[in-house]
Amino acid sequence: MERTDVFRIIHKYIPPDSPTYPLYVIHCMLVAQRAVEIGQRLGLAAERVAFLEEAAMLHDIGIVATDTPSLFCTGTLPYLMHTVEGAKLLEAEGLPLHARVAERHANVTKADILERTLPLPARDMTCETVEEEIISFADCFYSKVPDNLWHEKSLTEIRRSFGRYGARKQVIIEEWIERFYAKSD
Ligand SMILES: [Fe+2]
Repeated sequence: MERTDVFRIIHKYIPPDSPTYPLYVIHCMLVAQRAVEIGQRLGLAAERVAFLEEAAMLHDIGIVATDTPSLFCTGTLPYLMHTVEGAKLLEAEGLPLHARVAERHANVTKADILERTLPLPARDMTCETVEEEIISFADCFYSKVPDNLWHEKSLTEIRRSFGRYGARKQVIIEEWIERFYAKSD
C-alpha cells in the first residue's frame, strides 16, 4: 500500500498555528502509538501496522466541521458528526480505507442512533475490519480536551463510560479488552 503523508492532510484542515492543532496532534499520536503497539503485538504485517498509524492520525480530522468550542472548532455540526465528515473529507483525499476508519470509529449501529436519537445519519457505522476495531479501541483511552489530553484512562474508567451506552457496547468493550489489551499494560 502506498504511504500517505498524513501531515500534509492534517495541515490542510488544521493549521499548525491554530489552537486545535496541538490537541489534535497529541491525541492522534497517542491513539496511533497504542494502535501500532496492538497491531505489532498481534503480529499484523508491517503494511497493516503502517496503515494503523496513518488512519489513527487522521481518524478525527472531521472535528473541523463541528461546533466544538472546547477544541476550538468553529464549524456548524454536532461533535458526533466528526465521524461522517471526516470520512467525506478523507474520501475526497482519495483515501477510502482511512475514511472508513473515521466513519466507523464511534462504532454505532443504526439502532443505537435511533434509540439514543444521536445526531447522525441513521445507518450502521460499526467497526468491521480488525484495523477499524483496533483504532476504535485505542481511541477509548484518550480524550482530546486540554486538561485530560495526556491522561490514559484506566480500564475501570473505560468500562464506566461504555456502561452508559447499553449492553451491546459493554459486550464489545469486554471482547476488545480480551483481544487487544496487553496484560502488562
Ligand atoms: Fe479520537
